[in-house]
Amino acid sequence: MSLIDAIRAKAKADVKRIALPEGDEPRTIKAAEILRAEGLAEPVLITPESIAADPQRLESYAAKLYELRKAKGLTEEAAARLAADPMYYGMLMVKMGDADGLVSGAVHSTGDMLRPALQVIKTAPGMKLVSSSFLVECANRSFGENGLLVYADCVVNPCPNAEELANIAVATSETAGKLCGITEPRVAMLSFSTKGSASHELVDKVREATEIARGLAPDLLIDGEMQLDAALVPEVAALKAKGSPVAGRANILIFPDLQSGNIGYKITQRLGGADCFAVLQGLASPCNDLSRGCSVEDIVNTVAATSAQA
Ligand SMILES: CC(C)(COP(=O)(O)OP(=O)(O)OC[C@H]1O[C@@H](n2cnc3c(N)ncnc32)[C@H](O)[C@@H]1OP(=O)(O)O)[C@@H](O)C(=O)NCCC(=O)NCCS
Repeated sequence: MSLIDAIRAKAKADVKRIALPEGDEPRTIKAAEILRAEGLAEPVLITPESIAADPQRLESYAAKLYELRKAKGLTEEAAARLAADPMYYGMLMVKMGDADGLVSGAVHSTGDMLRPALQVIKTAPGMKLVSSSFLVECANRSFGENGLLVYADCVVNPCPNAEELANIAVATSETAGKLCGITEPRVAMLSFSTKGSASHELVDKVREATEIARGLAPDLLIDGEMQLDAALVPEVAALKAKGSPVAGRANILIFPDLQSGNIGYKITQRLGGADCFAVLQGLASPCNDLSRGCSVEDIVNTVAATSAQA
């Protein structure tokens, strides 16, 4: 079974309500029909008309938003205005327990969706950081877990420090287990250096993050710093990182910053022909972002993944 089929099966087994703030966008409307017909989720299409149809609910959402953000200087008037925006309305719907998760991004940019998610839904208990996992399925099954790898962070944190990078590594290993069924996450902390072959402050950050992650998750198989080839290719690992429990057999790749992560997944996708699929991790309830070039099928799959996370 492919990863997406496994995710769809998980979504079907326990149908969740997923808010779709881009409720009058044609691909989203079509996706909602398919989701309902296939029993993958209960989509909630949010439009300016659906918001106006229930003024009491809007009022209670505006009051919630004001309560959440007044310490940050949000006024009651601004809260009322923002709550009527479909994106904030959707986030508030999830916050109030009227939906289990949210998907958007067919129209909005990543930042337009992430900022309200961070402000309203916030991080899950015990999590300091929201980040993302890219689920990557390669045709060459000798890599990762039978061709499946998880990359992070390719979406959210432009310039993580060592502690944040360690958090990303641990959160990604948890997502790999929960969503992808990877029972033995093997985490490579990537750099342009392998085990001291180069010295630079950027390399020091990756080394420090590896140590912090070991402290956070003592049972996790994690090693670094290492180059991509040392992480994936046993012959290179034997030369550059002898004795490493991860090198040559990594199934999770942690990139040192957003530039390398975002470029890395796009190279895998475009030159390597891999199927790539992103989910956010660390939020109190699942919210996921689409690419603005997404197809109807991409929306269906992302909603299914959001249901599976919920
Ligand atoms: C995530 C992102 C939207 C945050 O935007 P920002 O301008 O830094 O927003 P702010 O600093 O105002 O943060 C908003 C809130 O979220 C919190 N926050 C920001 N990043 C966070 C993170 N990764 N995890 C948890 N909370 C975070 C802030 O602490 C702040 O909380 P507060 O308002 O309650 O104090 C921004 O980092 C971003 O645009 N990232 C890149 C996204 C992108 O374009 N990706 C492209 C690849 S597809």
